[in-house]
Amino acid sequence: MTAATSLLLFGATGDLSRRMLIPSLFGLHGDGLLHPDLRIIGTARSTLDSGSFRELAAKALEQHLEADRRPPAAVASFLDRLAYVPLDASRTEGFAALAAEVGDPCRLAIFLSTAPSLFGSTIAGLSSAGLACAGARLALEKPLGHDLASSRAINDAVAAAYPESQIFRIDHYLGKETVQNLLALRFGNILFEPLWNATGIQSVQISVGETVGLEGRGDYYDGMGALRDMVQNHMLQLLALVAMEPPARLDPAAVRDEKVKVLRSLRPITAREVESHSVRGQYGAGAILGQPVPGYLDELAKPSDTETFVALKAHVDNWRWKGVPFYLRTGKRVPERVSEIIVQFRDVPHSMFGDAALKANKLIISIQPDENVGLQMMAKVPGLDRDGLKLRAVPLDIGMTNAFADVRRRIAYERLMLDLVEGRQTLFVRRDEVEAQWTWIDAIRAGWAQTGMAVKPYAAGNWGPAAAIALTERDGVSWHD
Ligand code: BG6
Repeated sequence: MTAATSLLLFGATGDLSRRMLIPSLFGLHGDGLLHPDLRIIGTARSTLDSGSFRELAAKALEQHLEADRRPPAAVASFLDRLAYVPLDASRTEGFAALAAEVGDPCRLAIFLSTAPSLFGSTIAGLSSAGLACAGARLALEKPLGHDLASSRAINDAVAAAYPESQIFRIDHYLGKETVQNLLALRFGNILFEPLWNATGIQSVQISVGETVGLEGRGDYYDGMGALRDMVQNHMLQLLALVAMEPPARLDPAAVRDEKVKVLRSLRPITAREVESHSVRGQYGAGAILGQPVPGYLDELAKPSDTETFVALKAHVDNWRWKGVPFYLRTGKRVPERVSEIIVQFRDVPHSMFGDAALKANKLIISIQPDENVGLQMMAKVPGLDRDGLKLRAVPLDIGMTNAFADVRRRIAYERLMLDLVEGRQTLFVRRDEVEAQWTWIDAIRAGWAQTGMAVKPYAAGNWGPAAAIALTERDGVSWHD
């Protein structure tokens, strides 16, 4: 695909646009990575003109980028790329004015970050205005439905105008450096692969914790809950990258083919297993980093059974992962903001060290806030060992920030926006992946509904209810804290 020369940003005045998209595009512009002719056309319902949209963009840069990252000349030339067309996306009429702003409709990238209720009419409008040309590409931001049926409806509406090869479904976790680094770690080193299976690995943990609460997103979040907000997308993508077979090439088909096989191999957690394989929690009042914070229901100001924490025990039913549990947990108002993957290797088959306790190797992949890869290994404690040799687990650590101190870290959306305008699909989620993800998630939700599994309370500042600890301890495994 040739690079786009127009980028249409739907939802251009919204929070995601101001916090992430505009600063990311500016970062790319500042480094000369955008096509010189690329024009960025913002659109939303607000009746702004191009001048006031540029002011909004300038303010977004001021708020979200350090002063030394936005030299005035670069800001000025970036703002020159911007235009704005107000649009009521629920009516097709306005799309002609939008199309008039777009140069070559076949060199067009479209970014939809709008309410899902507007997807259908937006696609119809784009198509009627001639903006669904064969070279156009369309990025879709979550939520892409709230279950398999609604996700299919969106995918069908989009497919009516754009073929899959032009659709870029965003999961911003795939734009994160350390997430892509999983591919490098697994498939750029010979070290791990021979052990990367049920023979070498005892369990895998994936934790994504946030200290924030509802953040005023009650309307969206209360309808979704942690399972659909975080597990359906980000965590299942992480799981797929950890569990997939080595793709033959780093290309969109090869990588996504391998991911979808994993997602389809997830063992369903149905009504029979939900009580033993899942935990739902909801935070009450507590303290985060020493500061008191209110509970979910106080923030929401109405009763709710939405989970703000979920822990799961998953299995990938294939040869490689036979019997290896994948423990997943994610929550709001937990003690720390952290995303990490822990690969727990098995014990050595025989210890020659007598009573000296051996700890099995553990690979700790920290995605955020620190980007780190650490391998916990056994080493001898220095000394003369008159009472026998002593061993201790010590880390073999790669701090990515230090190892790559000379390289500027990009935010996830920089990578994704650049891939979108250049037409590279590898880091975007294919339809069959999303549908496999929803299939697995829907079964869990159906199980919760069938068994009437209510949320268990946890005080803000804890890693979910006590049942989350029991979920792994029952198997003799502890969460990595
Ligand atoms: C979003 C969720 O997809 O991811 C949010 O809707 C969550 O609820 C966010 O806070 C987390 O993203 P990150 O990049 O901060 O880990």
